[in-house]
Amino acid sequence: MSAPVTPSFPHRHLLGIEGLTRPEIEGLLDRADAAVDVSRQVEKKRNVLRGRTQINLFFEPSTRTQSSFELAGKRLGADVMNMSVASSSVKKGETLIDTAATLNAMRPDIIVVRHHSAGAVHLLARKVDCAVVNAGDGAHEHPTQALLDALTIRRNKGGIEGLQVAICGDVLHSRVARSNIILLQALGARVRVIGPSTLLPTGIERFGVEVFTDMRAGLSGCDIVMMLRLQRERMNGSFVPSVKEYFRYFGLDRDKLRLARPDALVMHPGPMNRGVEIASDVADGAQSLIREQVEMGVAVRMAVLEALATHLPNA
Ligand code: CP
Repeated sequence: MSAPVTPSFPHRHLLGIEGLTRPEIEGLLDRADAAVDVSRQVEKKRNVLRGRTQINLFFEPSTRTQSSFELAGKRLGADVMNMSVASSSVKKGETLIDTAATLNAMRPDIIVVRHHSAGAVHLLARKVDCAVVNAGDGAHEHPTQALLDALTIRRNKGGIEGLQVAICGDVLHSRVARSNIILLQALGARVRVIGPSTLLPTGIERFGVEVFTDMRAGLSGCDIVMMLRLQRERMNGSFVPSVKEYFRYFGLDRDKLRLARPDALVMHPGPMNRGVEIASDVADGAQSLIREQVEMGVAVRMAVLEALATHLPNA
């Protein structure tokens, strides 16, 4: 990757978007832009993390985040080890702290963690000596998802300042929504959330977002329509709507998309449930950025690992 074009990233860990300044966020996005160029070259390998060990520790399933962190680490030259709960001693009752201490004793340089509990990644970061990256903790934060979403928007719209972004669906259980609200507002976007009142956090207005429970009203004038899946794994059975009815009122189809700006772009962090929150022809249509988000995911994770590498011993 190119020499850093940004102010250096001052944090040892990336635990959330909350607490990052606008220049720090923009610095990571600039690094990620450079990483896109690297990823598109035939020879993708760089030596930024050569000799370093990266452990991907996933307590929840993942397709995009885990594989893109693995690719990002390998493209930067790291030795990458993937650990899932299914194949670990967590299944035998080992605690998060003991798991962290065990891995720490093997002297990794970076641990990337996904966990079902909000705050678990912060706790783990206090127990290890290496850099820690939050790959999603409960309904709390998913910082690299918000960064890749911002990079995708910036590259397609030329900037984020002044854009009207709608985040639609199950906002209540979404770490993606939370990280995106913080990040997009930090970069000057206006954010609205749209969903049934049962899937919107009580008092979310205090975060400066506009709230709509009518999707047709909420989509009016939007530049970006970001769809979220129903995160049933965090609902404890409390809200399982009829899929047909949910799609009728809150699913994005071509008819509803016409209510946004004509040049509006559609995003989804994945995994998608076609026919539940988004129609197939919209997901695969000309206004969709969903595949580009996946590509930007690798670049953003390369940028984050590169930024954290500057704090590793003997860097
Ligand atoms: N967006 C996202 O976090 O996807 P995965 O669960 O597949 O990693």
